[in-house]
Amino acid sequence: MPQQVYPADSIDGELEPPGDKSISHRAVILGSLAHGVTNVSNFLHGADTAASISCLRALGADIRIEDPDHNSRAPTVAIQGHGREGLHEPEHVLDVRNSGTTMRVMAGILASMPFLSVLTGDHSLVQRPMRRVIDPLRHMGADLFGRADDNYPPLVIRGAKLRGIEYAPSVMSAQVNTAVLLAGLAAEGRTVVGQATAARDHTVRMLKAMGAHISINGSSVELVPGELAAIDIHVPGDISSAAPWLVLAAAHPHARLRLTGVGVNPGRIGIIQVLKSMGAALTLEDLPPAGAEPMADISIRSSPLRAVTIQGEMVPYVIDEIPIIALAATQAGGETVIRDAAELRVKESDRIATTVAELRKFGADIEELPDGMIVRGPTELKGAPCRSHADHRLAMTLGVAGLLAKDQTLVYDPECVNVSYPGFWEDLESLGAG
Ligand code: S3P
Repeated sequence: MPQQVYPADSIDGELEPPGDKSISHRAVILGSLAHGVTNVSNFLHGADTAASISCLRALGADIRIEDPDHNSRAPTVAIQGHGREGLHEPEHVLDVRNSGTTMRVMAGILASMPFLSVLTGDHSLVQRPMRRVIDPLRHMGADLFGRADDNYPPLVIRGAKLRGIEYAPSVMSAQVNTAVLLAGLAAEGRTVVGQATAARDHTVRMLKAMGAHISINGSSVELVPGELAAIDIHVPGDISSAAPWLVLAAAHPHARLRLTGVGVNPGRIGIIQVLKSMGAALTLEDLPPAGAEPMADISIRSSPLRAVTIQGEMVPYVIDEIPIIALAATQAGGETVIRDAAELRVKESDRIATTVAELRKFGADIEELPDGMIVRGPTELKGAPCRSHADHRLAMTLGVAGLLAKDQTLVYDPECVNVSYPGFWEDLESLGAG
C-alpha cells in the first residue's frame, strides 16, 4: 500500500528523533567485544540495527532488548560481553539485510576471529562496493574474499592473525575506518587510520570511552591493541532523522519546530551549516552531552531560502542528507550545485539518479550530474505518485515533499523508513495535521 500524504497548512510542534543509527550499531558491536555489561539507552529499534543484533547473536553475543511493551521507540539494550573470546563460529551465513554498516564493520571484527564466517545481505546490499574494506583488511593479513573479483558481497572470511597498518583511506568512509580500527584492536602492533576524525568519529569516541589506547593527531588516529571495558551509553537522537523535519520547517511558509535531544557530533552537523547558509532561521541550545557525544535541542522556523553549493570536503559531512537538501533546494532561490558526491550512487539506491527522477515527478527543476546534481528554484511542487526505490532516506524526502506540495502525494514502498526511523509516517501525520 502506498503512503498518502497531503499538504500541510502549517507546521508547529516538537519532536524527538529516534536514536542515532551509527551510534546504535557501534554500541551493540563494541559492547559485544567488551568485558562486562554495556547498557544502551535510547537505542534505535530499526531494521538496520536489528540486523547488527541478529548477526552478533548468531556469533553467541548475549544481547537483551528491554522493551516490556514490545512497542517502545527507544528501548534499552543490555549486552553481557565476554571479550572477543565470547564470540564463536556461526552455524549459518550472517545476513546483514539492508545494512552496509553492519557488513563493513563486522568484517573488521571477523577478520581476526579463529573461525570461518560468511556475510551476505539483501538485493540492494549485494550490489554495494566491498573492495574498499577488503583491501585494507587484507593488507593487515586478513583472509577474506568477495563476489565478482572482491567487489561485492557475499564476503567469505577465514579468521587470521592480523598486523597493524598505517591506513590512508582512498575513499572517505566511516564504516571502513571503523572496520580497520576494530581489526587493529586484535592485531599485532599499532594501527594508524588517517582522516578517522574527518567526518563522523563515533567509533573513536566510543573506543576511548571503553578504555582503548587511542591517540589523536590532527584527523589521524593511532590505536594500540587491547581489551575494551563495558560502559553505559546513551544514544542521542539521530541528526539524519531530524534532517527531514529541519528542511520541512525551513521550507514551509508557516512553520515552527523544535527537535529535542539531537546528536550534534561535529562530523554530522553539515545539514545545520548548509541550512544556515541557505538562510534558515535555526538555533541550537546545548544539552549536557550523551557520554562522549554532544547533544542539543534545535529550533527552526520558516524563512526564505537561497541556493548553495556543496562540494569537496563538505560532502562527507552531509552524505546522508543530500536527498533532503535537494528538496530544500527546490524551494530556494537560485541554482544549487552539488558535486563531488559520486558516493551517493552506491548507497541504498543510486541516490543521484533516484532523487533526480522522483523529485522531477513533483515538478522540480533538477538535473543529474555524474557526481551530483543541479537544482533550480524556487519551484511550486505538485503532489505526485512516486517511489522510494526501497531507500529509507529517499522515502522520507518524498514524504516531506508531499507536505510541501499541492494536492495528494502517494509514496510507493514506504515501509523502508523502518531502516532508520520506524514511526516516521506517524510523526509525519502528526505534523501534517498541524
Ligand atoms: C555510516 C557511514 C556512512 C553513512 C552511513 C552510516 C556509519 O557511510 O552514509 O549511513 O555508521 O559509519 P560510509 O562509511 O560509506 O561513508
